[in-house]
Amino acid sequence: MVDLGIKIHNLDLKNPVMTASGTCGFGEEIADFFDLSRLGGLVVKGTTLKHREGNAYPRMAETPSGMLNAVGLQNKGVDNFIANIYPRIKDMDTHLIVNVNGSTIEEYVALTERLNELDKIPAIELNISCPNVKEGGMAFGISCPSAEAVVKAVRKVYSKTLIVKLSPNVTSIAEIAKAVEGQGADSVSLINTLLGMAVNAETRKPVLSTITGGLSGPAVKPIAIRMVWQVYNAVKIPVIGMGGIMNATDAIEFMIAGASAIQVGTALFIDPTIPVQIIDGITQYMERHKIQSVNEIIGSLQC
Ligand SMILES: Cc1cc2nc3c(=O)[nH]c(=O)nc-3n(C[C@H](O)[C@H](O)[C@H](O)COP(=O)(O)O)c2cc1C
Repeated sequence: MVDLGIKIHNLDLKNPVMTASGTCGFGEEIADFFDLSRLGGLVVKGTTLKHREGNAYPRMAETPSGMLNAVGLQNKGVDNFIANIYPRIKDMDTHLIVNVNGSTIEEYVALTERLNELDKIPAIELNISCPNVKEGGMAFGISCPSAEAVVKAVRKVYSKTLIVKLSPNVTSIAEIAKAVEGQGADSVSLINTLLGMAVNAETRKPVLSTITGGLSGPAVKPIAIRMVWQVYNAVKIPVIGMGGIMNATDAIEFMIAGASAIQVGTALFIDPTIPVQIIDGITQYMERHKIQSVNEIIGSLQC
């Protein structure tokens, strides 16, 4: 029997496989396809203090080997989450992590304080990397001083596991990772989407209403792995990797590069059972390579 358990700060995950925020709602949407208790963790849809409509349609586009989205954090706000969604999902036998978004530091703090009170939410993923909102979002994640300021303010009011989600749209992601580690982040997750754009040659118009959007899927995987490796070498806190993970081999590659856990996003739109296929595939890989604990894989890159 191989041991798939890993630790992210205070969270004991039964395995390193989670779903990525914004790609499976609150979990209920994919619950018909597999037993959600098999997941190491489930990161719920991006949540904001107040209701957000999101951006105008069209806000999704397919491109070769990746997708562009500009959903823009559509959600009904934290009060609705606490009153209506949390009671329905709180007893799922997996770690529930809420993805937290704000336009100002005060919003991030107010939202975080509310989530700190929820017993069955052991962690938040602080999104300072959303490219699809006009105010806040990625603006906080692309400079060290602003990333530090938001993490510092949130750390003061949040006592549980604080994961900070980083943007790839920066010159040095390792510098940002070190900056948020310095302010008390317990883990970093990366990468959020890369800023991209699609044009319709016939109409000479942008495909997305927002003109630019976030690119995800296999197209971004080599960039994501490079960034995981750079961040793993720069910080002491655990790194959660994502970006184009479609199968167990992709997941193992991220772990070899330094990821303690991984998240699956765009792949869910192709086949929602991919996370369980990845868990089974990691188990088979470990048996084949006679690896006892999945921790032996993390950062085992031989250069
Ligand atoms: C439709 C869609 C919605 C997303 N919404 C969020 C979100 O609300 N918060 C967030 O931090 N990331 C969001 N993301 C980014 C993903 O969580 C993930 O970081 C990114 O897609 C890279 O992983 P992937 O290539 O496996 O999809 C979204 C991605 C997609 C495709």
